[in-house]
Amino acid sequence: MLRRVLVTGGNKGIGLEVVKRFLEIDYEVIVVARDFSDFPYKENEKTTMIEYDLSDVEGLPKLAEQVGEIDTLINNAGFMQPKYTYDNYPKEAKEKIMNVDLHTPVELITIFSEGMKKRGYGKIVNTASIAGQIGHPDIWYGIAKAGIINATKIFAKLLGSHGIIINCIAPTPVETNMQKDNSEERKAEFKKILPCGRFAEPEEAAEVIFWLATTCPEYVNGTTIDFNNGSYAR
Ligand SMILES: NC(=O)c1ccc[n+]([C@@H]2O[C@H](COP(=O)([O-])OP(=O)(O)OC[C@H]3O[C@@H](n4cnc5c(N)ncnc54)[C@H](OP(=O)(O)O)[C@@H]3O)[C@@H](O)[C@H]2O)c1
Repeated sequence: MLRRVLVTGGNKGIGLEVVKRFLEIDYEVIVVARDFSDFPYKENEKTTMIEYDLSDVEGLPKLAEQVGEIDTLINNAGFMQPKYTYDNYPKEAKEKIMNVDLHTPVELITIFSEGMKKRGYGKIVNTASIAGQIGHPDIWYGIAKAGIINATKIFAKLLGSHGIIINCIAPTPVETNMQKDNSEERKAEFKKILPCGRFAEPEEAAEVIFWLATTCPEYVNGTTIDFNNGSYAR
């Protein structure tokens, strides 16, 4: 095993907590994001920072060369833009969110699974959202997240026989910067349906991602872990 992991958006929020967990078990961690100003592991010798805008799908093969071979891929970077309504959604905004939240993760799986296949080992974790299960006022966010849940199922079938395990997490709100984009009204509504009455902490979501990417048995493959405190029991 290479013990090299790529964490997209590992500079803050949930991704940063994932980085922390991998550093604890001495992995080499490559982080791709745009803004490393507050990244606490700048000086860490096991960490490589790559500044890249993940809406640039065309540039991904070049980015992958820079990253090098990995055996673990955490497709975590993502964003939403609930200020746009379904009938007034600028074309550029739609393209950007579909690229970052769906097309890029799928491309990264396609690119990095090649090396994983050769080595007969790989772990991939995608970050979806409950938005991809029940819908979301940001229609393209919900569509992108539903897409990544489906991509997880497809790739489990395509890659499973090569020793590659791929899973997904679908969180309800987590206390990160992303919640700044949600209205106070929507946040209050959401808290009412959470039995514990609070949003999750980023380290709680990271713990699930870390398990899926490390000790999770291979029989858990193609699944989406509901990370919602029982608010969407099914
Ligand atoms: N927080 C929640 O309530 C919640 C709920 C369900 C699912 N999620 C999902 O969890 C994942 C992590 O989000 P978070 O909660 O940790 O939010 P966050 O703190 O806002 O982090 C988002 C991450 O994505 C990166 N990112 C966004 N756009 C990017 C771009 N164009 N290029 C490169 N990196 C980009 C950001 O890095 P830079 O800004 O530095 O580029 C940042 O690291 C996302 O996929 C999100 O959809 C979050």
